[in-house]
Amino acid sequence: MPKQPTVVPLLAMALLMLAADVRNPGVEHGHALVEANCSGCHAVGRADASPMPEAPPLRDVHQRYPVENLAEALAEGLTTGHPGKPAFKFEAREVDDIIDYLKSLEQ
Ligand code: HEC
Repeated sequence: MPKQPTVVPLLAMALLMLAADVRNPGVEHGHALVEANCSGCHAVGRADASPMPEAPPLRDVHQRYPVENLAEALAEGLTTGHPGKPAFKFEAREVDDIIDYLKSLEQ
C-alpha cells in the first residue's frame, strides 16, 4: 500500500478541519446575533469602543460574573432595569451561540 503515508496525514487534517467546523458556526452565529442586536450600544468585538459609553463592552462582562449567568436573561428577555434597552428573547440555540461567542472573547 504505497499511498498510506500520504493518506494518513490527509485524513488527520480533514478530521481537524471537521472538528474546527463543528465548533465555529456557533461562535460565528453568536457574533452575528450580538452584532445585529447589541452593537448599537455595546462594543461587541475585542477592541472596539461602545457606541453608548454607559454600555459596558460585552468582552468585559465576564469580569463581573460568568457569562453563563446571562443565559437566563437572554432567554427570558434581557431588560434588567436598563431603560432604553429593548427586551430580547432569544431561542435556546441562539442563547448558546451568544454565550459561546462571549466566551471566545475571554481568551
Ligand atoms: C439601546 C442600547 C442597548 C442595547 C441595544 C443593548 N444594551 Fe446592554 N446595556 C446598555 C446599557 C446602557 C447598559 C448599562 C446599564 C447600567 O449599567 O445600568 C447595558 C448593560 C448590559 C450588561 C451589563 C449588565 C450588568 O449586570 O452589568 C449586559 C450583560 C448587557 N447589557 C448585555 C446586552 C446584550 C447581550 C445585548 C444584545 C442582545 C444588549 N445588551 C443590547 C444598553 C444596551
